[in-house]
Amino acid sequence: MKAVRVKKELAEEIRKRLERNGFKDRRRRIRFESGYVIIPVVDEFNLKSPHYEIVEDTNPIFRERKNFREIVTQIAGFYPRYADLKVFGDVGLMKLPDSVMHHKKRIAERVAENYRLSSVWLDMGKHGMKRMPRMEPLVGSKSLVEVKENGCIFRFDITEVMFSQGNQYEKMRTAKLVEDGERVVDMFAGIGYFTIPVMKHSNARKCLAIELNHKSYRFLLENLKLNGIKKVIPILGDSMHVTPESCAERVIMGHIRCENFIKTAIDAIDGEGWIHYHEAVPVKVIHRPVERIRREAESLNARVAEVSLRKVKNYSPNVYHVVVDARIRKC
Ligand SMILES: C[S@@+](CC[C@H](N)C(=O)[O-])C[C@H]1O[C@@H](n2cnc3c(N)ncnc32)[C@H](O)[C@@H]1O
Repeated sequence: MKAVRVKKELAEEIRKRLERNGFKDRRRRIRFESGYVIIPVVDEFNLKSPHYEIVEDTNPIFRERKNFREIVTQIAGFYPRYADLKVFGDVGLMKLPDSVMHHKKRIAERVAENYRLSSVWLDMGKHGMKRMPRMEPLVGSKSLVEVKENGCIFRFDITEVMFSQGNQYEKMRTAKLVEDGERVVDMFAGIGYFTIPVMKHSNARKCLAIELNHKSYRFLLENLKLNGIKKVIPILGDSMHVTPESCAERVIMGHIRCENFIKTAIDAIDGEGWIHYHEAVPVKVIHRPVERIRREAESLNARVAEVSLRKVKNYSPNVYHVVVDARIRKC
């Protein structure tokens, strides 16, 4: 491991320059040795200068990692409910409530240093049917990330599309339900959240992946290639209008506000098949999603032959993200 050995009087200026150019190794602490300052640098650093000497750091002192809770508590004096940090590779996404918002910059800087991140963003939630994220850069500007999950790779820009780590189990569970030779429709394909694990881990005949947002669609195409997924027909369009009738044995509805699409999903089932319907639902009306499906099925002269509801994750206080698996049989 490399370091720069510099005289005390020049150390601060050299440190700043190394930091600015991304050469300082943040994992190790600066230390003093025989009247000199030893500044740790990354292995790629090889810029020569008469003001310092590049040496081997034989006695490295590693920084202790603090967790997010400790950092926020240290800076704000307390840890608020609903503060949260998600890390995608070397990019961090922070959620902070109003009570600590005035510390956002300092918290972000400490988070970046502690987790060795290239950038930290303030995550201000998603908006609209396209679930577009609103992000504010606090440290750095890197936004393109690659996430590995369930043996799949997802490349996306965190400022353009959302990614829910809390749905990881659900994606794999859905993939395992798919039977050999099934035709699948993913009505809200995004960047391939369900399409890719389903096609990677099942023996489906094909999958129609429909996405409305051209930014997500671009990453969907890229991720299909990246994962070597072949039997997918990607469609850029509104699933309400482009989903074919009687074309599938399984329909995935991975959008938490898609109650108006249940009819289209049932129409897409060819004779008999499953729909996986997601909804954000207040706990006190937890059976609402099942009732919605039953009502729509009845109006279409179809029957719900089997049904189950499971919680995917907490969505907000007293609101769950749930999924209903409903077996639809057309009469
Ligand atoms: C963000 S995903 C939901 C998250 C995903 N289920 C997961 O596991 O992370 C929802 C996607 O549906 C897309 N969408 C919204 N309305 C649509 C429509 N009418 N037709 C097709 N796609 C739509 C959005 O653009 C978005 O990419």
